[in-house]
Amino acid sequence: MSTNDIHIVVDDNGQVHRLTCRSGISVMEAIRNAGLPLEAACGGSLACATCHIILSEADYARVGAPSEDEEDMLDQAFGVTRTSRLGCQILLDPSLDGLGLRLPARS
Ligand code: FES
Repeated sequence: MSTNDIHIVVDDNGQVHRLTCRSGISVMEAIRNAGLPLEAACGGSLACATCHIILSEADYARVGAPSEDEEDMLDQAFGVTRTSRLGCQILLDPSLDGLGLRLPARS
């Protein structure tokens, strides 16, 4: 483990996973690297909305609002909340250490 490692907490429908990630990868990549279920069909090119994640209120404020293009794509995701983001559009850096998020419910 290096001092640049970033820790995030992912709630997958009640199962809590604590991930240690490299700086510079996206939240989507971190979740997929951990083997958690996040489809991310377009591979991070902002063309699918299947990397939808939901942040805590405090962490949504830390990460910041989505771009207009991301908002347009988010409109196509299921179960969107006002703290929803697309995981491929959030790059991890040390300022985001401790980020908490959940995966949308799967039906
Ligand atoms: Fe497709 Fe994020 S992986 S929009």
